[in-house]
Amino acid sequence: MKNFVAIALAAGKGTRMKSSLPKVLHEVAGKPMLFYPLTELRSLRPRKAVVVVGYGAEKVKKEFHGGRVEFVTQSPQLGTGHAVMCAMKKLRGFSGDVLILSGDVPLITSSTIKALFEIHKTRARQKPVISFISVMLEDPSGYGRVVRDAAARVKSIVEHKDLKPPHKDIIEVNAGIYLVKAGFLRKNLKRLSASNAQREYYLPELIRVAYSTGEKIKCLTHADPEEVMGVNTRVELARANAVMRKRILTSLMLNGTTIKDPGSTYVDFGVKCGRDTVLCPNVHLTGKTAIGDDCVIEEGSSIRDGVIEDGSHIKSYCVIESSRVMKGAVVGPFARLRPGSVIGEDARVGNFVEIKNSRIGRGSKVNHLSYIGDSTVGSGVNIGAGTITCNYDGVKKHRTTIEDNAFIGSDSQLVAPVIVGKNAYVGSGSTITKNVPSGSLAIARAEQKTIKGWVKRKGLAKNKP
Ligand code: UD1
Ligand code: CA
Repeated sequence: MKNFVAIALAAGKGTRMKSSLPKVLHEVAGKPMLFYPLTELRSLRPRKAVVVVGYGAEKVKKEFHGGRVEFVTQSPQLGTGHAVMCAMKKLRGFSGDVLILSGDVPLITSSTIKALFEIHKTRARQKPVISFISVMLEDPSGYGRVVRDAAARVKSIVEHKDLKPPHKDIIEVNAGIYLVKAGFLRKNLKRLSASNAQREYYLPELIRVAYSTGEKIKCLTHADPEEVMGVNTRVELARANAVMRKRILTSLMLNGTTIKDPGSTYVDFGVKCGRDTVLCPNVHLTGKTAIGDDCVIEEGSSIRDGVIEDGSHIKSYCVIESSRVMKGAVVGPFARLRPGSVIGEDARVGNFVEIKNSRIGRGSKVNHLSYIGDSTVGSGVNIGAGTITCNYDGVKKHRTTIEDNAFIGSDSQLVAPVIVGKNAYVGSGSTITKNVPSGSLAIARAEQKTIKGWVKRKGLAKNKP
């Protein structure tokens, strides 16, 4: 398998997606579709990998920039055969095998590609010029059909749109993955014609060329139909997502994560999840999320780009983005951590609490109905129900600092910039606008006035029923 190069086809618009986004950038389990074949490819170590881009070329290049691939632009896009012709410009002088993959076949695995290499490299005297993968599909619609001769040898591939009655019942389809001798490609790509239903230069026409010139063709027929599924519509995109999701969840479970209801759990590719961690139904873990060991993520919580350390507990219906929850902390139910929040070890963030760009120190508690934004909260702090940091003056954002072991009474507002010192107390209902030195008590509310007998004098007293 050493002497091979690879071409990934990704220039098509994906008309059937009905989208302005290039098809290969539509996401499967949180990654653009093309990410998957390129990742599998990398593990096979080709000498070179060329990605053919065309529709939305800049967007596609930007997404895969730095991924150890070279790009070639196909413009206009005149079909898969033409796409490979464009890629060959980058492969001058190469004489080994060329692996051709489709950017819209995201579920292909490197082990199936290896199996294709196996059948391609034969001991027989006549070596195949082209090997490809076919599968039997109950519903072959949309795919190119594999036509065989009386001796069951592959003869040609007929595209769905070019099907004529004798071939209508064929259920063996072309998966769009090929291994071709570079010399054969160079010689025959220029011979393709576009006289077909789509007026395109079809790559599978090379099979017909090989057959008619007496060359050997090999076909791998035992691939998993799920794996070679092409994504042309959003219906197929949803199907590919379902398969990928199942793969991801299976791998997490086999590595020690309990998933109570795989049917309602969504985990993106690349998300990490530790041992003895439990994911409850309807959990969504996306982006670069990493969950440690022994955590519980309760139902309905969604975490994007979050780091949840060992032994933490995320209760029901939390929304966490780009934040870190340190060891043993408990968050929720119904809490929201906005980007840049760090919840310290053993801290508690309770229901209806929003935290943004703030650090909550070790063992501190913000348990009920609070907004903490742009703040640094030390350790051992207790923040009473309904506390609000007023971080925005209409023009600028300002910081609030609450030092270790301070106590903020319920329903207080801390108007930033402001510092509440170590061990200081803020009386409930206060609007704090000045720093509170450590060890002091600050109360900033009107003193209570009680007027005895006022209700009766006003004639407001109600008679007993
Ligand atoms: C193709 C095959 C079909 C096979 C199916 C498997 C052809 C003509 N047909 O059909 O036999 O059963 O894949 O999924 O090859 N592309 C380019 N440039 C182009 C046209 C397409 O780079 O000018 C790329 C697309 O971005 C896509 C891939 O090639 O990633 C396949 O193209 P698509 O139009 O989806 O081909 P299918 O009709 O699915
Ligand atoms: Ca396709």
